[in-house]
Amino acid sequence: MSGLAVVIGASGGIGAALADALEARGAHVVRLSRSSSPALDLTDEASIAAAAAHVAAQDVPLQLVIDATGFLHGDGFTPEKALREIDPAHMAHSFALNTIGPALLMKYFLPLLPREERAVFATLSAKVGSIGDNRLGGWHSYRAAKAALNQLVRTAAIELSRRSPHAICVALHPGTVDTGLSAPFAKSGLDVRPPATAAAQLIATIDRLSAADSGGFFSYDGDALPW
Ligand SMILES: NC(=O)c1ccc[n+]([C@@H]2O[C@H](COP(=O)([O-])OP(=O)(O)OC[C@H]3O[C@@H](n4cnc5c(N)ncnc54)[C@H](OP(=O)(O)O)[C@@H]3O)[C@@H](O)[C@H]2O)c1
Repeated sequence: MSGLAVVIGASGGIGAALADALEARGAHVVRLSRSSSPALDLTDEASIAAAAAHVAAQDVPLQLVIDATGFLHGDGFTPEKALREIDPAHMAHSFALNTIGPALLMKYFLPLLPREERAVFATLSAKVGSIGDNRLGGWHSYRAAKAALNQLVRTAAIELSRRSPHAICVALHPGTVDTGLSAPFAKSGLDVRPPATAAAQLIATIDRLSAADSGGFFSYDGDALPW
């Protein structure tokens, strides 16, 4: 890969591993996060527009944008175990970071994808956002915010296909990965993988995607997931 790859959330566990792996295979990588220059904050639309303008100004063809941002716990919030724990402030925060922020990333970064060549926008969703696969309940805000993200990916992909028929816009589930996000919940017995392993699997899956897959929701091993 010799083109430009953008990793948003490059300060995170999976994002950093993705950026390292893409660089190792020869991509020119732009790492964006709240601490990069320019800084990108999902809750600040102007910062997203400025980061997209920075990417547009690179003179390497854009091939890949990966959104590896996300929020499950922190800032005083822990995932709900029951309806009685629903807190509007927590839910609004989860939607701001897991849904609205990524929607703004699609607003500013999808128009940068080439019109005629293959290019990919992938956002990291989560299998717990699958409605069809929900058997355990709980984690109301995170599940709902990721389900809404999946719908936005599908909707954006339809619009993208009209302008860039070879471009691909997908939601990817990284599996359970050893990062700060999963640390409090990664019980023994679960298949918790190192970020470098997850990054290699996600990149291999991205490599295999075709335009017919755009608008889809895929696991790190390439399997299509139920909505
Ligand atoms: N780890 C897992 O087991 C697992 C499982 C399923 C799905 N996922 C999904 O995979 C993605 C990456 O997760 P991870 O495990 O790598 O989490 P992580 O290590 O906590 O990284 C989260 C990333 O999101 C960024 N972020 C948070 N708030 C932001 C904001 N306001 N503006 C811009 N960036 C912001 C963080 O940047 P800062 O450094 O600035 O905070 C960081 O780069 C998430 O979407 C998560 O839901 C993870």
